[in-house]
Amino acid sequence: MNKQYTPRTWPNLKGLNGISDAVLESHFALYQGYVKNTNALTEQLIQLAKEGKAAGTNLAYAEMTRRLGFECNGMILHEYYFDNLKAGGSPMPQSGKFFDAVVKSFGNWDTYMADFKAIASFRGVGWAITYQDPTTKLLSNHWVTLHNDGNPAGFIPIVVMDAWEHAFVPDYKPTERGKYVEAYQRNVDWSAAEKRVH
Ligand SMILES: [Fe+2]
Repeated sequence: MNKQYTPRTWPNLKGLNGISDAVLESHFALYQGYVKNTNALTEQLIQLAKEGKAAGTNLAYAEMTRRLGFECNGMILHEYYFDNLKAGGSPMPQSGKFFDAVVKSFGNWDTYMADFKAIASFRGVGWAITYQDPTTKLLSNHWVTLHNDGNPAGFIPIVVMDAWEHAFVPDYKPTERGKYVEAYQRNVDWSAAEKRVH
């Protein structure tokens, strides 16, 4: 039996400060598409393997395999993103595992926030993500292009921001990423980040 993912729902995620319910609703629909495609690709790829058609020279097999990384990361990152949002956010931490890891990694909270904001404002579509290295326990901020290019293998996503335009258009113009970054930061559920830190 192949692994089939069930799309998750966030019925209580509404009324965000600066990100409309309409944008969230269409975002949920896009997320469901990633789950659907991850399931479909998984099923079709295993079927091809069973038929002895798993080969790099089989273009359908090869391209579907490449596509799996995009769809699967699209599913996973959106779950992290919705999970670390909450209407109005939660208070910025002043102690705890996450705060301690920030200080150890960046020196202080403000430097961490400025670094994240700079990455979150990059041109292009992708993700701004605070990751934790499970070996050193240190945090680092990363830019991930699309959903699949730039994820450090084995690192744990701690704070995840969708930087695709569908995350804020039409609430803001495509040129107004900065306004969306500020809205995102007003709605971060820092307690979700705290739970992810090891
Ligand atoms: Fe998205």
